[in-house]
Amino acid sequence: MKRMIRIGLWSLTGVCVLAAGVVLVGVLAGERKGARIVSVPVVSLAYRDDAQALARGKYLYESRGCMDCHGASGKGRVFIDDPGGLYVRAPNLTSGSAVIGRYREADWVRAIRHGVAPSGRALMVMPSEDYNRLSDDDLGALVAYVRSLPPLPGEVAEVRLPWMVRALYGFGLVKDAAEKIDHGLPPARPMTATVSPEYGAYVANACLGCHGAGLRGGKIPGAPPDWPPAADLTPAGSAMARYDAPEKFVGMMRSGLRPDGSPVSRVMPFDSFGRMDDVDLGALYLHLKALPAQSASR
Ligand code: HEC
Ligand code: HEC
Repeated sequence: MKRMIRIGLWSLTGVCVLAAGVVLVGVLAGERKGARIVSVPVVSLAYRDDAQALARGKYLYESRGCMDCHGASGKGRVFIDDPGGLYVRAPNLTSGSAVIGRYREADWVRAIRHGVAPSGRALMVMPSEDYNRLSDDDLGALVAYVRSLPPLPGEVAEVRLPWMVRALYGFGLVKDAAEKIDHGLPPARPMTATVSPEYGAYVANACLGCHGAGLRGGKIPGAPPDWPPAADLTPAGSAMARYDAPEKFVGMMRSGLRPDGSPVSRVMPFDSFGRMDDVDLGALYLHLKALPAQSASR
């Protein structure tokens, strides 16, 4: 009996050592992957500073999530500080930061559209997969607005991931944006903002990072364990069934409350999306309602 227990304990220890070994291998692979140099073909965009670009850029900055992470003033902020070990500070984007102060035209495109820093390092957590399809006009407007932000002192980026997420990143189960993006795609064609499913598909790029490429939802890779899975937005899921009229959907996106008054998780960045105008939200609704029941899963 004693012998059995001893063997049992030894095998348990063996399994633990093995598991720790696997995690360590993953973490080391993750470190190598995080340090790789990503070279992407970057088509620079000429700087703009006309009033139209500044106004459109401000609207996009505030409604597409940039403000949520980088702050209204652009000086950066800590937007996740999870007891499980995930800590993320988005960097200062104003010209008061040493990094951005040295940015050239191509650097903006590389970072926002491709998820790659000027040094060639893949940016972590920043959802560039959501921004890759921005048209040249919209990307130029966004850059114009960010460049117009008054210089402020602020901090550099800091991204600390829990061991498990670092291992999953090493094994390729959690991906950075640069890995998810098809860098060979040409920029999205110019878009006119109208309440149409086509324009809605363009706006829905802002939802991909969490709801997945086919908007089928599911667990958000690398997210803290207490975050609920993102809803399936296709007809295969139940979430969109409660939005049988556009007003109900628009109301939820502005308030964070379902038609029955219950709150949707604040993981959804309502501070940003609540600022989307009637055209964006109306178009988004038409697109979501037109999604095929069987779209590509993540
Ligand atoms: C979910 C949070 C999040 C959102 C949304 C987000 N960012 Fe970021 N951003 C980050 C983090 C975190 C980093 C630092 C990543 C790193 O250094 O690995 C970053 C880095 C950057 C950088 C690169 C700075 C450098 O080191 O070269 C730029 C430029 C930038 N963001 C602009 C934007 C713009 C413009 C938007 C909106 C279109 C945006 N970000 C949306 C979190 C976010
Ligand atoms: C940062 C991650 C994130 C982003 C970005 C995001 N979502 Fe979500 N979304 C979630 C999560 C998580 C849930 C599940 C919330 C819950 O169960 O309470 C959700 C739920 C939903 C729901 C279901 C609401 C309900 O009635 O239960 C809808 C509709 C939705 N999202 C639409 C969108 C649209 C449209 C976009 C893009 C404009 C978007 N989301 C972007 C994380 C996100």
